[in-house]
Parts: sequence; structure tokens; C-alpha cells
Amino acid sequence: MAKPSSTFVCQACGAVTPRWVGRCDNCGGWNTIVEEGTAAPLGSGVRPRARGRSIELVGLKGTTPTPPRLLSGIAELDRVTGGGLVPGSAVLIGGDPGIGKSTLILQALARHALKGERVVYVSGEEAVAQVRLRAERLGLSDAPVLLAAETNLNDILATLSEGPPPAIVAIDSVQTIWSPEIESAPGSVSQLRAGAEALVRFAKTKGTTILMIGHVTKDGQIAGPRLIEHMVDAVLYFEGDRGHRFRILRAVKNRFGPTDEIGVFEMADSGLAEVENPSGLFLGDRDTATPGAAVFAGIEGTRPLLVEVQTLVSPSTLGTARRAVVGWDGSRLAMTLAVLDTHCGVSLGGYDVYLNVAGGLRVREPAADIAVAAALVSSFTGCPLPPECVLFGEISLSGSLRSVAQGEARLKEAAKLGFKTAVVPPGAISEVKKNSSMSIHTPKSLIELVRWVQSFERNKLVRATVAATS
Ligand code: TYD
Ligand code: MG
Repeated sequence: MAKPSSTFVCQACGAVTPRWVGRCDNCGGWNTIVEEGTAAPLGSGVRPRARGRSIELVGLKGTTPTPPRLLSGIAELDRVTGGGLVPGSAVLIGGDPGIGKSTLILQALARHALKGERVVYVSGEEAVAQVRLRAERLGLSDAPVLLAAETNLNDILATLSEGPPPAIVAIDSVQTIWSPEIESAPGSVSQLRAGAEALVRFAKTKGTTILMIGHVTKDGQIAGPRLIEHMVDAVLYFEGDRGHRFRILRAVKNRFGPTDEIGVFEMADSGLAEVENPSGLFLGDRDTATPGAAVFAGIEGTRPLLVEVQTLVSPSTLGTARRAVVGWDGSRLAMTLAVLDTHCGVSLGGYDVYLNVAGGLRVREPAADIAVAAALVSSFTGCPLPPECVLFGEISLSGSLRSVAQGEARLKEAAKLGFKTAVVPPGAISEVKKNSSMSIHTPKSLIELVRWVQSFERNKLVRATVAATS
């Protein structure tokens, strides 16, 4: 009989190596390689068929009824799932530890349970008493959610198979689930894959919706949820800054709906509350008189969202100037700085640059380029931008400005919130002219944008005077 072999698997990225190494060649993580027993190959023990059976090939057209949806009644959540959960689907909900995944799921399950659906919450992390305490705090103790604290995969599946199949099962978290048939430790890549696979199979065969919670890990001690993204039907990430109240649920994969849709929540004492007007909240505590801030009219999924981009440019005391970015892409900032330097003569090489997107939001659109550039120039020159102005558009490496999609939706949202001026690339003009309530400024290139920012010189004089007298 063949000797049971083992492999060495990186707990951060899932790469397999034949022997132990201190640093993973694939992702560069240190000390993330762990020895794992090899799972039995698929179909082992079954004699291979000599010939496969022929399967029916069908056309693309057919009459498949649209699946009914399970609506939670939490509008922000239902939008992200694409109009409710699909029976028999598997959904992964990832996020940093402590961001509020368990709270969100418990609130959603309680809503479903109150509508008469059979829902089960399996907690592998917290004891029953802890979950009950949370439910009490959220005012949900009366919701008929069936609760268990268990981590053994076989026991969980056996329990779920008893009686009528539940409509929804939440597994919190999938990284705590372990199967006795697999030799490696709970939280390892093999265990995570096997657990997720068995749960997905259960979902498909019984028509139960499985919600798997997964912690995003940075140190590689436990396997990350990215390893099972390909197995599930939808992947939602719950993001936010723990220092802020706002939480954003974002769909990054959805076989039954649009991706990039977001739901905005606010973490309050009594759990997560929906935020119906996120733009208003993200702009809530704006300091309009200070240079360095610009309002970006963005689009998240199908929804326009206005956010404030804050920058600070200060002379560097270090040999290499510092670039710190929160909520935006660091390499896009480097690109914007390079274009400002090469095409506009705004050289920030000797300055530390800090960039922050207010409210803990993470902006992914290149459309934020113009707002970032304007904020940088504003901070550098001490010229504050007009408070009632929004910006959007992409900067190309040649220093010209490029229009972006959905200009009208962005402007409508800005007008709704009382903004009067918009700075947009010239290409967007035909679309935005329809919106007559705002005055539109269309710089043709980045250098024109820089000049426009410099025309607001009010604070520059104040700053120069302060510097001279101190
Ligand atoms: P939790 O749902 O346990 O996070 P996760 O499952 O993602 O690890 O939420 C943890 C945080 O949320 C915790 O720091 C406390 C905070 N919280 C509130 O502020 N209000 C509440 O009503 C609840 C239940 C939690
Ligand atoms: Mg939790």
C-alpha cells in the first residue's frame, strides 16, 4: 500500500511545495508553510469506469424559471445580494475580525426567521450564551433562529439533514469548521477547502442557502477566505475602518446579480443600522475652509456616492519622502504625482504626501484622479477649493483628462446635496449639459485644472503672513 503522503501548504495563498520552506515562493509570506496530510483523491475507492457515459448536449435557449429570492427586508443587504438570497446558493461573507460580520448575519437571520423561514445559525467561535447575549443586545431574542455552537463538519451536516431542510444556514466562521477525515489542523487550507466543498454540496442538493463567514487574515496563521471564493456563488466583503462607524458590504462576485454593488451600514450600540443617504453622511463633518480637500462624485455599483478626498502635503524631514494612503490605491497616487510633476511642474518630490478618503470608504474608481489631483494642488498651494464644488474624471499619463461613465447620475446626486459647481473632463460635456442646475467647468488638461485651483488664493496670503510673523 502506498505510504500516506503529506504536502506543505502556504496558509496565506494555498501554494503547495514538496518540502518545508521559511518563505512562500508564491506570495512571499514568512512562516506560512504548514505540513498537511493529503486528502484522499476524489473518487478514491471507486473503481474507475473504463468508458465515460455520454451526456446530453443542449442549446443556450431554454425555459428555466427565475429563482425565487429570499428577501431579508434589510434594503442595503438585499441590494448587495442582487435582490435577495437565492435558494440553494452558497454565499461567502468575508471581512476583518471584529468588523461586524456576526452582527450583520444575526440581524439578517432574525429577519428571515420572523418571516417564518427555518433558519439555523451555527457558531464555531462563540458559545451559545455569547450569541444569546448579542441577540439580547440587538433586541432579537424573540426571533425563532435555531442556534448551535459546533465545529465538527460531520455533526453539523448530520444535524442539518434532520427534518425539513432549512431555508438558510449561517456558518460562523467557516475557518473553525473541521472534518475528522482530514488530518490537518482546523483552520488549515485542506480543512477550509473540504469544509466549504461539503457545505456547497449540501446547499445544492437540499436547496438551502448557506452563508459562510470568513475572516480575512493577514498573518497566514489560518487560511484566508479567498481560497474558497471560486466554489461559492456570491462573495461579499464587509469592509470599514474599525475607528469609524461606517461599514460597507460589497459584492465582489455574484452569479445571480450585479457585482460592485454596495450596502452602507452604521455600527451603533444596538447593532448595524442601514444608511439610506450615504453621501450626506460621508460629507457630514466637512471642514470647507481648509485647503487640501476635494469632493469626489463617485459611483459605487449602481449608486452615486459623494465622498471627501483629504490630502496633506508637508515638507519632508526624511531622506525619502513619505506617501501614506488610506482608502485609495497607492500606485494611482504615485501616478498622479508623476503626472503633476512632469506635465504641470508641480513637483512634490521633497514633500510628504498623506491621502485619506473620509469616513473609512475605499474608493476604487480611476474617476477619482481629478479630485485627488485638485486636493493635492490645493494643499500644496494653500488654496482651498470652493466648498460647493464636486469633481470627477480620469487623468491620463499624457496629462489630459478623460471622461468617465455615468456623469449624469453623479451630477444629479451632487445637485441633490446642494453642490453648485462641477469640474469634469471636456468629453463628459454632452452628457452633463442636460443637467442645467449646475455650472460646469471643463478643464482640457491637468495643467488647466492646476491653474483653476490656484485661482482660489484666499488662504495663500494668510499662510504667507503667518509664516512671516511667527
Ligand atoms: P462582530 O459582529 O462580533 O464582528 P465579527 O463577527 O466580524 O468579528 O462585531 C464586533 C464589533 O462590533 C465589536 O467590537 C463590538 C461592535 N458592536 C457594536 O458596536 N454594537 C453592537 O450592537 C454589536 C453587537 C457589536
Ligand atoms: Mg464573529
